[in-house]
Amino acid sequence: MSKDSLDRLRRRIEDLDVALLKLLNERATVAIQIGKLKTQNGLSIYDPTREEAIYGYLAKHNHGPIKISDMNRIFSEIISVSRKLQFTAASDNSEPPVESAADRNIGVLSGNTAVYCILGNPVAHSMSPLMHNTAFTLLGIDAIYLPFEVEDLQEAVAGMKALGIKGASVTHPFKTQIISLIDEIDDTAEKIGAVNTLVFEKERIRGTNTDWIGAVRCLETLLTIQGHNFVVLGAGGAARAVVFGITSKGGKAIIVNRSGKQGSALAEEFDCAFVPLSEIESVRGDCLVNTTPVGMYPREDEMPVPKRVIGTYKAVADVIYNPLQTMLLKEAKAAGCMVASGFEMFLYQGTEQFTIWTGMKAPVKEMGKVVYERLATK
Ligand SMILES: NC(=O)c1ccc[n+]([C@@H]2O[C@H](COP(=O)([O-])OP(=O)(O)OC[C@H]3O[C@@H](n4cnc5c(N)ncnc54)[C@H](OP(=O)(O)O)[C@@H]3O)[C@@H](O)[C@H]2O)c1
Repeated sequence: MSKDSLDRLRRRIEDLDVALLKLLNERATVAIQIGKLKTQNGLSIYDPTREEAIYGYLAKHNHGPIKISDMNRIFSEIISVSRKLQFTAASDNSEPPVESAADRNIGVLSGNTAVYCILGNPVAHSMSPLMHNTAFTLLGIDAIYLPFEVEDLQEAVAGMKALGIKGASVTHPFKTQIISLIDEIDDTAEKIGAVNTLVFEKERIRGTNTDWIGAVRCLETLLTIQGHNFVVLGAGGAARAVVFGITSKGGKAIIVNRSGKQGSALAEEFDCAFVPLSEIESVRGDCLVNTTPVGMYPREDEMPVPKRVIGTYKAVADVIYNPLQTMLLKEAKAAGCMVASGFEMFLYQGTEQFTIWTGMKAPVKEMGKVVYERLATK
């Protein structure tokens, strides 16, 4: 083989690469136009049927030597990049694609991949990995979110620091215990007395709480918080975030709890009324909010209050998200109340975490969609 013919072939490759580059950018420009049109017409940017059709005509037109399986891999990247461009160009209301942790190409993990995690015990049931990995994949963020079932929280914190973890969710039973192990917490987390979000900044770990934001967003799907009365069942960790949310948004909370000691302590702290659970029928309010675990899987037949009190409320919310519709919510619906499930609270505490960690607007619809679909098929 002469040097001349090698140079000639290399020049030919360069010409082809330049032509490919031009074609790829032309394709991307058309994809952006399609994305804008879809958004204007309220259509989903992600269209799995259309993407399947693309692979279908590629298979028909591919005459080699590249195998169709390799061609599909190349086009999967091209389609993924186009989709990202469409999302960037589209309005805030655009609906992100269905991609989940399972779709993530693990092969792309590298030493630069940012690692986020959830600390809890148990955590196997947690929907947070599915939700956050979906968002990372969708927005093309080089990051992964892992579940860690923790025995010793102190060691886990040291380990996270050593490994360069970028952020973490904290769940049951560590939301209070974590406070003494980190460098600072913000005013909100301090007032709630619990941390559900960690941000690692250089050598420091900062704690905050997004549960209350989830609670507020959830309740606001039912009625404005300001000026309304909320009867909060329970006085544990979830109740603290809910009561903080209600009172900081100008609503009035009435705490109803089984144990007088815990209930009245919470009521005193947030300057609210307290009523023992045994006297629930004497209480009146606009919205009933269950923050107890009563009715949670696997004891789905249980209700935290007698059926007859439910109909006295305009709206009923439950912090439980497994099942999506608790017995309480089913009865409330039957009684003509507006209802919201713990799914909303869970979703919005997570989307807020995502924004804190990445500085980006969370793809709310899609994060919700993957979690909802997973819960609905459980
Ligand atoms: N959707 C979300 O994002 C989200 C976030 C956080 C938590 N949650 C859910 O919220 C629920 C509570 O979690 P938590 O962390 O607040 O728990 P917690 O701190 O243990 O508090 C539980 C509260 O429920 C009351 N309670 C428990 N069993 C009861 C029963 N059989 N009858 C009457 N009251 C009862 C307890 O009353 P006493 O004071 O009398 O013991 C306590 O006030 C769990 O189902 C959790 O999964 C959901």
